[in-house]
Amino acid sequence: MPTHEQKFFDGFMLLLGVLIGALAGIVLFADWFGSAQVGVSDGALIDDRIRPIGQVVLFGDPDIGVESIVAAAAEPDRAPLSGSQVYDESCYLCHAAPGIGGAPVLGDMDAWTPRIAQGTALLHDHVLDGYQGDTGFMPPKGGRLDLTDEEVFKAIDFFLEAVE
Ligand code: HEC
Repeated sequence: MPTHEQKFFDGFMLLLGVLIGALAGIVLFADWFGSAQVGVSDGALIDDRIRPIGQVVLFGDPDIGVESIVAAAAEPDRAPLSGSQVYDESCYLCHAAPGIGGAPVLGDMDAWTPRIAQGTALLHDHVLDGYQGDTGFMPPKGGRLDLTDEEVFKAIDFFLEAVE
């Protein structure tokens, strides 16, 4: 009749054996798996794998490809936004009081009167293309290149209605 200690010892040794076996299995598998990867030492392949997934471009950079981004976003797969929705999502950031970076504040008659005098067509162009005026810089479509031109025009109407 094995003693209590002996039973424990036997069980413990069995468990230890299983664990060591499993460990050896993992080591062997990892070794095989590592060597099975083709071209690990191939420099070009590594470069390809660690290549950054994005690239920083700045406005004014000739390679920015704004046209292609705009073209790709021209037909958004969603319901068109209203002028006030576009304002809340995309224009508010700069055009709410006090006006960031020299942006004319929504409803500020003094700031808008001379701009409206330029004519709506020019305002449209300035917002679509981006605008560097006397007070600051606005990126094209306020930075929201996924907006359609119509959505931007509705947002401009929203600005104009606020000072009517
Ligand atoms: C990053 C900040 C910023 C955002 C976002 C922004 N604007 Fe502007 N916006 C400006 C600044 C700055 C000016 C003034 C530029 C100047 O006159 O020097 C301006 C000017 C304008 C003007 C007057 C242009 C002119 O010819 O006088 C209109 C219209 C306008 N913004 C509409 C919009 C609309 C619509 C949106 C949202 C789709 C928007 N802006 C988002 C910064 C911004």
